[in-house]
Amino acid sequence: MILYFSATGNSKYCAEFLAKATSDNKIISLNDLIKNNVRVLDCEGEERLGIIAPTYDFDLAYTVADFLESLEIKNPGKEIYSYGIFTCGSNSGNTEGTLREILSRKGIRLNAAFTVIMPDNYVLMFKQKNPEAKNKMLDEADEKLKEISEIIAAKKDTPARKNKIPKILMWATKKFMIPSQKKVKGFSVNENCIGCGLCEKICPMNIIKLENNRPVWTHDNCACCLACLHRCPKQAINRGKSFKNGRYINPNVDF
Ligand SMILES: Cc1cc2nc3c(=O)[nH]c(=O)nc-3n(C[C@H](O)[C@H](O)[C@H](O)COP(=O)(O)O)c2cc1C
Ligand code: SF4
Ligand code: SF4
Repeated sequence: MILYFSATGNSKYCAEFLAKATSDNKIISLNDLIKNNVRVLDCEGEERLGIIAPTYDFDLAYTVADFLESLEIKNPGKEIYSYGIFTCGSNSGNTEGTLREILSRKGIRLNAAFTVIMPDNYVLMFKQKNPEAKNKMLDEADEKLKEISEIIAAKKDTPARKNKIPKILMWATKKFMIPSQKKVKGFSVNENCIGCGLCEKICPMNIIKLENNRPVWTHDNCACCLACLHRCPKQAINRGKSFKNGRYINPNVDF
């Protein structure tokens, strides 16, 4: 079974790649589970449990971490092989450590963990790279995914990797960044909006509602996944200074 969370397609792409390479065709979107408030998952008879998610703020995306913490994973056999794959723009920080701890509280050992560097979707802070640079990153990610697939298919363990981000930076991020990311104050929509409703449909936190055919952000519980912003077909959604930084959707993924 492969669980993935993805806003702009990188982690979805990895999940689909792994599914093909390991013939594990049970792929479940955590975005859907979160959106629909599903809290129980049955792992009966599963050989492997893969969790594939983006890095936010040098850690496992906080919405994913909170959700996995509250998820009841039923019937994971003693022999289940579990792995994590963390996509990121440059540094996956403590994603592995956080997932290891969450799974261990559920009696599941994390056998293997991997980081895959892919184009960064954090346009609230960083400008998009040029198309050639992004294509090069995607090619390199494919090479990495081939290596990862072989390790996972053979159910090999990987050594635990230490987080090299300074503790003070981890602390400051949790204290200041996440609370501000959860707030919806900076969102806006411009006149290009056609009222298609996609943003409402794909928001995993159910905080976007269409009023008079325009999105309204109803409360401060944003996952900061930026799905609404990147995937709006008219690029009508803005948050802070993000307009000048471009938009991104993984070109090899169908949503
Ligand atoms: C709120 C936020 C925080 C992020 N923080 C990091 C980070 O700390 N390190 C990093 O390398 N990439 C970071 N990124 C980039 C994403 O991890 C990366 O683009 C990821 O592949 C997106 O996955 P998706 O396309 O499956 O949604 C961040 C992105 C967002 C939206
Ligand atoms: S996805 Fe874009 S175009 Fe569609 S309703 Fe939302 S803002 Fe408007
Ligand atoms: S409002 Fe946009 S960025 Fe926030 S959780 Fe919903 S889709 Fe993600």
